[in-house]
Amino acid sequence: SIMDQNELKKAVAKAAADYVKERLHSDSVIGVGTGSTANYFIEYLGEFRDDIPATVASSEETARRLKALNIEVIDLNAASEVSIYVDGADETNPYLHLIKGGGGALTREKIIAAVAREFVCIADESKQVDILGEFPLPVEVIPMARSHVGREIVKLGGDPVYRDGFVTDNGNIILDIHHMSIVDPRELETKLNQITGVVTNGLFAIRPADQLILGTKGGIKTLT
Ligand code: A5P
Repeated sequence: SIMDQNELKKAVAKAAADYVKERLHSDSVIGVGTGSTANYFIEYLGEFRDDIPATVASSEETARRLKALNIEVIDLNAASEVSIYVDGADETNPYLHLIKGGGGALTREKIIAAVAREFVCIADESKQVDILGEFPLPVEVIPMARSHVGREIVKLGGDPVYRDGFVTDNGNIILDIHHMSIVDPRELETKLNQITGVVTNGLFAIRPADQLILGTKGGIKTLT
């Protein structure tokens, strides 16, 4: 049920906050993700805010939540490095390849993941799949390229659906690719990013999570 799912999200968020807390040093910059699981993580960060030198946020919404708790948020360009990035996911496979971007923050999330020394994904077990793609794969697109990118996605065997009325933090649009069984996530991640007009897509396979803290009814499991 939703109730149980929220308890699992809280439990993995707490586990990630404990993990971060143990590893903080005076110049640690923590990457903070977007979504309901990440929001619980933000609340737990608030409990040791004075020990956190700085954070970088994967969305305007997350930046707003961090600042509301008096947690320092800096521009990624001002960070010499990001030690740990913690974020949720929409789907994860056994290789810790992810689909992200259900909340539309995929591009900033992918940039932080690219910079972070360690990427810790937090999720409840409902996100676990053998083959990615049941969750529609988000693709961020420059607005004028929408139709072109849509046609190219159809050629790759996908069914692109325009996320009507949604604008990303970067001023772009999202096409969600339905009905794709993603047997080779790295290959699809690369192919989609080759389409002119695509900013990036929500596959995190070339840079997967390093660690998955998974909330299950049997307890918290850490997968690497
Ligand atoms: C945000 O763009 C996504 O990548 C989120 O990480 C994802 O939607 C997970 O959200 P929940 O924690 O709310 O399931």
